[in-house]
Amino acid sequence: MSISSKDSPSFMTHRGIFISFEGIDGAGKSTHIEALAHAFEAQGRAVTLTREPGGTALAEKLRTLVLNEAMDALTEALLVFAARRDHLQQLIEPALVRGDVVISDRFTDATFAYQGSGRGYDWKTLLYLERLVQTAQGLEGDFVRQPDLTLWFDLDPDIAAARLAGARVPDKFESQSAEFFRRVSGGYERRMQADSKRFARIAADNLRDVVWQHVLQAVQQQGWLP
Ligand code: TMP
Repeated sequence: MSISSKDSPSFMTHRGIFISFEGIDGAGKSTHIEALAHAFEAQGRAVTLTREPGGTALAEKLRTLVLNEAMDALTEALLVFAARRDHLQQLIEPALVRGDVVISDRFTDATFAYQGSGRGYDWKTLLYLERLVQTAQGLEGDFVRQPDLTLWFDLDPDIAAARLAGARVPDKFESQSAEFFRRVSGGYERRMQADSKRFARIAADNLRDVVWQHVLQAVQQQGWLP
């Protein structure tokens, strides 16, 4: 008997699903994050919507520091990983155990893209911190927690800058140059090359409805939505 995507084990047993959205500032993730949450809720799934840095009381405090204070790249990396540790322990892992769909506006790829490629911090040290912070216990032993699917909103930095211009007072990252964001995009590309099955690259310069169709298709291909 063939198994249609609707009948796939993840759909029937309600195991937790972890989805992250990534992209440079101004790539236009927000409305699609909300729409995807609604699409899952319409199927009766519980959704935990969250973001990084942030998602818990402690991590939100660290977010305020990271986004507003000047610091060197290692300090920045340590703070975002500290925030991630708390976020995983307090919010993400328990939600996955409950069987929720966890949708996070950014996760660990952002650290490689921003602190690694954007700010030029050592990639290998970030890989070490990633392993340290994201190791979780599974039925078959320890593993490094990653999203099941990462939707990378790929957008030319000049278009992103035009979208952001005048929208609000820019934070520390939003006020960076187009050159910085070109490096950040290169960092996302490098992460995708290293783990291509986890990624769906979304061309974010399309009309909103077209972008949404691509987001939906990427999730449907996993068998998580009918
Ligand atoms: P946002 O929530 O408005 O996208 O802002 C978060 C900012 O923090 C964004 O500019 C990307 C940056 N950031 C890092 O530099 N490193 C990280 O690990 C994460 C999660 C975000």
